[in-house]
Amino acid sequence: MGKAILSAVDLENINNTAVAEYMDCVRDIFYSDKIKKLDNYEQHNHTSRLQHSINVSYYSFLWSRRLGLDYRSAARAGLMHDMYFYDWRRPSSLRGYHPLWHALVACDNAKKEFGINDIEADAIKKHMWPCIINFPKYRESYIVSFADKFCAMAEFFDGIETVKKVTRLKAAYAARK
Ligand SMILES: [Fe+2]
Ligand SMILES: [Fe+2]
Repeated sequence: MGKAILSAVDLENINNTAVAEYMDCVRDIFYSDKIKKLDNYEQHNHTSRLQHSINVSYYSFLWSRRLGLDYRSAARAGLMHDMYFYDWRRPSSLRGYHPLWHALVACDNAKKEFGINDIEADAIKKHMWPCIINFPKYRESYIVSFADKFCAMAEFFDGIETVKKVTRLKAAYAARK
């Protein structure tokens, strides 16, 4: 849980002003046992669902703060937006249309675990827009949705780089034998 993707900022370093502000928004969720369980699921190309959620949360926070929006709600929604506990790659785990269904499950879990406001609920439920047709109601919801796509792309390409590195290491090791 050290850093967001493409960021050099250590999220444990509360001497950093942005980190301290970010942590003030999400500390209760960030250090909860419930959210840590997301580490058991792969989300995109070697990135765990927990790391993905932190990535989305931190960028939602930064961009919303920059734009003068409700960055607390954006950060919290980002951290909870994929709070579902099944493997979406296994067809037997799926109930209904996954892009819509998992967002509703995450919203329900977020409500039960942490309590959420209207902005957080909207951002979580509609983070798959435009893959789902329900338009977000709040600007913060658009930020979370955009951060989700941005981070998914970064994680995808980061995963490819990781696979390339492992392949190179394996080849180098095999050549030494
Ligand atoms: Fe999602
Ligand atoms: Fe996501």
